[in-house]
Amino acid sequence: MSETVKKAILPAAGLGTRFLPATKASPKEMLPIVDKPLIQYGIEEAIACDIKEFVIITGKHKRAIEDHFDHTFELEEKLKKSGKKHLLEVINGLNQYNIAYIRQGYALGLGHAILCAKPFMKDEPFAVILSDDIVDPEDTLLEDMIRIYEERGSSILALQKVPCADIQRYGVIKGSPDGKGIFKIDDLVEKPRAEDAPSDLAIIGRYILTPQIFDILERAKPGKGDEIQLTDAIQELLKTQPVYGYQFEGKRYDAGDKLGYLKATVALALKNPQLSDEFRSYIEHISKQMEANEIHRETAR
Ligand code: G1P
Repeated sequence: MSETVKKAILPAAGLGTRFLPATKASPKEMLPIVDKPLIQYGIEEAIACDIKEFVIITGKHKRAIEDHFDHTFELEEKLKKSGKKHLLEVINGLNQYNIAYIRQGYALGLGHAILCAKPFMKDEPFAVILSDDIVDPEDTLLEDMIRIYEERGSSILALQKVPCADIQRYGVIKGSPDGKGIFKIDDLVEKPRAEDAPSDLAIIGRYILTPQIFDILERAKPGKGDEIQLTDAIQELLKTQPVYGYQFEGKRYDAGDKLGYLKATVALALKNPQLSDEFRSYIEHISKQMEANEIHRETAR
C-alpha cells in the first residue's frame, strides 16, 4: 500500500474575471454559497478525508482568505458576551486549520500556482482542490480518489462527462477503462475545441498528484492561453509513470460560472436544515407562478 495523502494545495490566485464586478477587489474564493465561502467547502471536503495540512496559493486582493481562517478577537468577544455559543463555535472552528499561504506574484497559470507550493511539500503525494468546483458535501469523491491512490500509487484525476458545448472549458482525457469508474489515461489536452477533443471526459477540480510533477513544472513552458498548464505537466508525467482518471457520478457544480454558482446555491440551500422547508416552498411557489405566466403568454398569443 502506498503512502497516503496528508496535504492539499488550493490555488486561489486567479483573477475571477467571470464574476466581475463582484471580484474586482474581493477574492472569488470568498463568494458565499448559503453561509460559507467557496474555499471553506474545499477545506472541509479535505478535512473529511483526514487531510490536515493546507497550502493556499494567493495573490493580490486575496487577504480576506487569510482573515477568514484566523482569529477575530472583537467578534469572538462579542459572541461570547451575547451568549451566541453556536456562532462562536462556528467561527472558532475556522482557526484550527493548519494553513500556509504563498503569494503567486503573477497569475502565470494553474501549473505555476501548484509549483509555488513546492517548498512546503516533501517527497509525498498531495491533493489539489480547485475551490470553484463545488462537490456535494454528501459525495465522497476525494475519499474515493485517495483510496484509489493508496491501491495504485499513481496520480488520479477526477473526471466527469461534459456536454460537447462545454468541452472547450476543460482539460480532456483520452483513456481506456481500467476498473470500476477508473480510466488509464493515455493522453490529455487542455481546453480543446469540441471537434478536436479526444473524448467527453473532462478533468474537474480534484487531483491527487505524485511529487514528480514539481520537477516537470519547473521546466514547463507556457501552453494554452500563454499560461503554465497543469494539464501539460500531467501529460509529461505520463511518459514516466501511469496516471489514472476516476469518473465522478455524483453532483458537482462549476461555481466559478454564474449559472453553476446559482445552481450550487439552490442545491445546498435545499439541503440546509434551517432553510430547506421555507426555501422549497418558495421555489415551488415561483415555479407555479412561472408556469401560470407561461400559460397566460401562450393563450394571449
Ligand atoms: C482548470 C484546468 C482544467 C480543468 C478545470 C476544472 O481550468 O486547467 O484542465 O478541467 O480547471 O475546473 P480553469 O477552470 O482554471 O480554466
